[in-house]
Amino acid sequence: MAESLNIVAGNKEENYICLIPQIEALIDGEENLYANLSNVAAALKMAFDFFWVGFYLVDNDDENQLVLGPFQGPIACTRIQYGKGVCGTAWQEQKTISVPNVDAFPGHIACSSDAKSEIVVPIFKNNKVVAVLDIDSNQLNDFDKLDEIYLISLTKCLEKIF
Ligand code: SME
Repeated sequence: MAESLNIVAGNKEENYICLIPQIEALIDGEENLYANLSNVAAALKMAFDFFWVGFYLVDNDDENQLVLGPFQGPIACTRIQYGKGVCGTAWQEQKTISVPNVDAFPGHIACSSDAKSEIVVPIFKNNKVVAVLDIDSNQLNDFDKLDEIYLISLTKCLEKIF
């Protein structure tokens, strides 16, 4: 496991290109899901200083709900129903959802009034959603196609740890 994170002072794409292999190295050889997700959330927070970054996992005890997993940032709601909010919608639609202005997203679940834009990327195992990566920004319009491309590529690296 890498012991420190090298964060380049570059543009967004350079940051992702530098970060993703380091995340792969971080999770390599560790089988504990929560340990790995915790480090991934921390690495994303360190690299991009997102307002909130974390995971919601499909609850083993109630497969209609997501339950809060490892995250970095302010406290957040613990459970999200299938099809509800941005996270539950990304789960239902099985696709990445980027929301430029959360106030304009019907049913958005506001865990903090400081969150202004959001991106949610589903994580799949055997073609089923097992979790979502959720990132909130305190700026409007903070996520673009580059975030989508690199965060999807990151979540594909995470499929093997579930
Ligand atoms: N905004 C999310 C809820 C989770 S928090 O952003 C951490 C949603 O609408 O699903």
